Amino acid sequence: MPTLEDLITSEIIANGPMRLDTYMERALLHPEFGYYQKQIPFGSKGDFVTSPEISQMFGELIGLWCVDTWAKLGAPSKFAFVEMGPGRGILMQDALRSAKLVPEFLEAAEIHLVEASDQLIKVQQERLKDHPIQWHSAFPDIPDGMPVICIGNEFLDALPIRQFQLVDGGWQEKKVTVTDDGLTFVTPPSDEADLADQLPSISECSDGDIAEISTPAREFISFLAKKIKSNRGAALFIDYGPAENALGDSFQAVQRHEYSNPLENPGGKDLTAHVHFSPLREVALSAGCAAPAIEGQGRFLERLGIEARVMQLSKNATEKQHKDIVAAHKRLVSEQEMGTLFKAFSFSSGLAAPAAGFGDAE
Ligand SMILES: C[S@@+](CC[C@H](N)C(=O)[O-])C[C@H]1O[C@@H](n2cnc3c(N)ncnc32)[C@H](O)[C@@H]1O
Repeated sequence: MPTLEDLITSEIIANGPMRLDTYMERALLHPEFGYYQKQIPFGSKGDFVTSPEISQMFGELIGLWCVDTWAKLGAPSKFAFVEMGPGRGILMQDALRSAKLVPEFLEAAEIHLVEASDQLIKVQQERLKDHPIQWHSAFPDIPDGMPVICIGNEFLDALPIRQFQLVDGGWQEKKVTVTDDGLTFVTPPSDEADLADQLPSISECSDGDIAEISTPAREFISFLAKKIKSNRGAALFIDYGPAENALGDSFQAVQRHEYSNPLENPGGKDLTAHVHFSPLREVALSAGCAAPAIEGQGRFLERLGIEARVMQLSKNATEKQHKDIVAAHKRLVSEQEMGTLFKAFSFSSGLAAPAAGFGDAE
């Protein structure tokens, strides 16, 4: 029985070095061997823990952000409430629970989940079985003709990237090839970058520098921003990466909460890369959307009232539960943990008042 590594190796032998976005796509989403098709990677016993898995407070506050944003859109009587890459469905479950405070919001919401993994769709269906929900494997399936509120946590970082390295004063694409030692990186001298207009100016970089571009992330944000501009709506994405464009190699693999070699055992570990938020914000602005300055997750959650929620939950908590709530709060907002590395990125067709959680500047 061949492994995914065997299939990738044969493809490279037949076609030459493989682009990194193709490698990432195969490793994460191959229909039989892809990482998200084979296992449920979340939680302390899995490979990584995401914010909704750390604490219910995260999803509850995002749910309230959605209710507030819906009100600032004029409380449309019907809208598509979309989540991209919902994982185990915990964020949506917590968001819908807090949104019960405003029943009109839930009555107006037509819920759509966009998930590429058949395995995770089953988990989401079980967790969210009390709610009418439509599932899609790709974003273009979302219906047109109504406003959209779209959310996603750690979705953009799963979208494939390409890497370019500055070699002798020109950008060359980093690819994956095969040697006697297995899969390794190569920067073939003959390759010219075909995305020169998206790469940083060579005069501001030094030989050896690495720049990253995610074409699927740009295409997705462009598609969503145009949809939001024409149908009205808003989007909120939380993910990790620099607010401004930054150079460097952020392609990484995580297995059992440890970093490991991303070219070893493809399909067996999660592959991600930093999200470069400022080019994505530019894409949304150029589609005609309004977008507040990108905000750190910590400040965003503080502005949404996480401290008040900590106090409220702690009131009836046991000592152990109280300790867990305080630890989760720290993990989500502290600068040393997720508070600064993780960012909140939002855009909209225009709201009656600034989006909650962000500064006033648009
Ligand atoms: C890191 S997980 C985050 C899960 C969840 N949002 C959370 O915070 O726990 C990435 C999610 O995006 C999904 N995903 C990855 N690539 C996708 C794609 N191209 N289209 C739709 N879903 C995708 C994965 O299957 C998974 O549900």
